[in-house]
Amino acid sequence: MLNPIVAKPLKESLLSMKGFSKRAVEEHYKLYNGYVKKYNEIADKLKNVDLSSANQTYSDLRSLKTELTFAIGGVKNHEIYFDILGGAGSTPGEMTRSIQGWGNLDEFKAEVKATGLAARGWVWFAYDHDRDFYFIYLGDAQNTYPVWNATPVFALDTYEHAYWMDFGSDRGAYIDAFFENVDWNEIENRVAAVKK
Ligand SMILES: [Fe+2]
Repeated sequence: MLNPIVAKPLKESLLSMKGFSKRAVEEHYKLYNGYVKKYNEIADKLKNVDLSSANQTYSDLRSLKTELTFAIGGVKNHEIYFDILGGAGSTPGEMTRSIQGWGNLDEFKAEVKATGLAARGWVWFAYDHDRDFYFIYLGDAQNTYPVWNATPVFALDTYEHAYWMDFGSDRGAYIDAFFENVDWNEIENRVAAVKK
């Protein structure tokens, strides 16, 4: 049984980020809120779905279960994304530096940026619990391509809605601005939590 979920509040610090207009962030937050509402709507419909008509080509069960992954992906990805922004001026801590394994921060950022230019939806930096390493991977939608038993430490939204209003088609400039506003302290907390 899926319990209803509640949207997290928008952090005040996100409304004054360098390069990001208040309106763009507020509109983005509305989209996140929309995913929360749709998740709850789908969860509610699943309570009474007709199991006897399940079919892989089309069935209510198939549609609901598929779109549930899109909705919850939208919720989780945006929660990570909003959590690790709003930290302009923060600097990467020792732990964050030590786990990067990319030589230096600039090389790490370069791979994230390139991955962001190659992605259609998301970039994640995640810890693989099975192999004990961190990696950078991409998704083309909220629900592609998950990697099992890995915990994202940060998420970078590369959907056009994340940057078009402030950066036009210049996704690279948006990713540069993303890094200027990253909250390294929050990432440090996430790295510490992963290691437990
Ligand atoms: Fe988004």
